[in-house]
Amino acid sequence: MAAAVVRDGRCILSSRVHGQAELHGPYGGVVPELASRDHVRNVSDVVRMALSEAGVAPEALDGVAVTAGPGLLGSLLVGLSFGKALAYRLGIPVVGVHHLEGHLASAALCEPELQPPYLGLVISGGHTALYRIDAGAPPALLGETRDDAAGEAFDKVAKLLGLGYPGGPAVSRAAAAGDAAALDFPRPMLDREGFDFSYSGLKTAVALEVERRSAPLSEREVADVAASFEAAAVAPLVAKARAALRHQGVAQLAVVGGVAANRRLREELGRAAARDGFRVVFPPLALCTDNAAMIAAAGTRLLARGEGHGLALNSFSRVPVGETPWASPPG
Ligand code: KG4
Ligand code: ZN
Repeated sequence: MAAAVVRDGRCILSSRVHGQAELHGPYGGVVPELASRDHVRNVSDVVRMALSEAGVAPEALDGVAVTAGPGLLGSLLVGLSFGKALAYRLGIPVVGVHHLEGHLASAALCEPELQPPYLGLVISGGHTALYRIDAGAPPALLGETRDDAAGEAFDKVAKLLGLGYPGGPAVSRAAAAGDAAALDFPRPMLDREGFDFSYSGLKTAVALEVERRSAPLSEREVADVAASFEAAAVAPLVAKARAALRHQGVAQLAVVGGVAANRRLREELGRAAARDGFRVVFPPLALCTDNAAMIAAAGTRLLARGEGHGLALNSFSRVPVGETPWASPPG
């Protein structure tokens, strides 16, 4: 659950994130029912704290942006209902934002010079996709994962290695002490044309490797598996992004979503950028993982275009980027 106050879609006055790692940790992944109940318990406080930290009275708000999808319906509905109620009470517009368009907006939020055209690589727990961003057009999909998301693979490998939840940061920490060349895991899709990704084969390869060792892994082994997995997971992201930039004749890349926090990915893309002569933009760590400032930034743009969705606004668990099924009331 997160709430933020953003001025002009650019300046973050406050950004609160109420994490649920402790709540879901014992289960090794998100339990939807626990997530939505926790949202109900916390939504008022998180919004109140965001407002007081920003020093902004509710009456000073110009609009409310809420995530309308995709995501877990129960959790989405809590935020959406609260946002609609707040907007109704204040007599201001409410606008629904696509979660991935929020992630994409996080890049420009901290890099005002980032102007289209650029490519956006969205890597999160639910998505792995490459978009071309042009002014005045919805993001154009160039490629996406055919099965698991990259973040999902990090989370599953963390679970296999007993590193806990959320997995990405834990795998990355363990990997720092390991040898990335220790194990030769498959680098999915590297040998294929196009810009699609695949992570289920890599995940299975890691599972088989862990199984093969039957006895509990030593710290050294955990570090080596983590490092070798991380290298295999990062390689296709770098290779596909470079190929797509060349193919599209674009020289700017924005990398967003939770996995954009990964150190190895940042280093490898930084080196590729220097070699190939493109510019790569990573949001600060706090804006990579889910946050409300990115939703406010994307929502500000929609409101500036005159899009307000009114009280018929609903949430949707699955929505392709560029589509806004919530924009029109169900008929
Ligand atoms: O964007 P996000 O916060 O939530 C979704 O929209 O899914 O992304 C969460 C994902 C999780 O799978 C988490 O393991 C991964 O991002 N992640 C990382 C790192 N930090 C978070 N993966 C690799 N390295 C990291 N440092
Ligand atoms: Zn996300």
